[in-house]
Amino acid sequence: MKLASRMERIKPSPTLAIDARAKALKKEGKDVAAFGAGEPDFDTPDHIKQAAIKAIQEGFTKYTPAAGVPELREAVAKRIKQDLDLDYAAGQVVISCGAKHSIYNIFQAALQEGDKVLYPAPYWVSYADMAAITFAEPVAIPTSPAAHFLVTPQQLERHLTPDVKIFVLNSPCNPTGSAYSREQLIALGEVLKKHDCLILSDDIYDAITFDGFKAYNMATLVPALRDRMIVVNGVSKSFSMTGWRIGWAAGPRMLMDAAADLQSQSTSNPSSIAQKAALAAVTGPRDFIGKMVEAFDRRRKLFVEGLNSIPGVTCLKPHGAFYVFPSIEGIIGKRYKGRVIEDDNVFADLLLAEKLVAVVPGSAFGCKGFIRLSYATSEETIRKGLDRIADFVEALE
Ligand SMILES: Cc1ncc(COP(=O)(O)O)c(C=O)c1O
Repeated sequence: MKLASRMERIKPSPTLAIDARAKALKKEGKDVAAFGAGEPDFDTPDHIKQAAIKAIQEGFTKYTPAAGVPELREAVAKRIKQDLDLDYAAGQVVISCGAKHSIYNIFQAALQEGDKVLYPAPYWVSYADMAAITFAEPVAIPTSPAAHFLVTPQQLERHLTPDVKIFVLNSPCNPTGSAYSREQLIALGEVLKKHDCLILSDDIYDAITFDGFKAYNMATLVPALRDRMIVVNGVSKSFSMTGWRIGWAAGPRMLMDAAADLQSQSTSNPSSIAQKAALAAVTGPRDFIGKMVEAFDRRRKLFVEGLNSIPGVTCLKPHGAFYVFPSIEGIIGKRYKGRVIEDDNVFADLLLAEKLVAVVPGSAFGCKGFIRLSYATSEETIRKGLDRIADFVEALE
């Protein structure tokens, strides 16, 4: 059988693949220290679960409008107004099966061959493949640890060619945890004012920040960009609801209508029950987030300190999200039991096989010589993982 040529443009998500490998080893009874997963390890708050149970008991188990129930679209528009001071009508909000699905719909609705999608690297793995499947060209702007993995206005200016249709910004960022300050966002916004492209702000980690850092949306700070801003967010990370699959996008009416049409001809509505749960999340108390962030903060400090004490490893302190992204460049070229560690892929492979520690190679995020570790796991697992990585590195020749 010959598959459609578009399938040659994508590969399975490497983060999900590592996670699947770690889970398979665990199933065999192996004591894996798994740092691959991109999901909080907390239970979904009880009031949210109760809302879903109520929906089932009341028979709210049928199709809903394809773009989501009006109450949830309204609640999201209200929350965006409260949190970001941006005005979107409920009709400009489309509820989808996760923020990933929202971005997929936007890309499908807006992009075609000849267009470019621009984003800073390291980047969330799916932007590149989701762009490529539309036949648009994904373009990454490389950043460096010296710049805390943040793109500068000059770099952005150089990359903003007329064929750039969408610029994607993810702050705080997966995989680096880096986030842009108010001033940095305004400076990037000033550059974007001069170029007529859409801006997709993937705000999925905006509630998870540390040391008093506040995540802003660029359109809040640079009002001139509001007409072409697409705000993407969801409940997966902030309410520990990854499995419920609810996310959303708010943006220009024409684009959102097209995304809704696409959804009506593909998945139809996201789960009616999960929408009721998300409504409880969006309109309910947020104290859960504060507690989760406190736990993440303790783990972040543990990881950063532990990793920096391993020779050949250097790690920046992230501003948000729940990942650390250390450099292992000081280890590349060394040997483990005779095998040369040629790159981050070999490092991750050997670490899992030999020490049962699952990490994602930085290459998956467009950044060689680094690895990503998620700290959405217990302090005990982090300590165990650090000990094993230190053992592994000590055995290098
Ligand atoms: C940067 C980023 N955006 C979007 C998503 C998608 O989140 P979801 O589809 O679970 O809402 C993720 C998930 O890992 C992510 O890291």
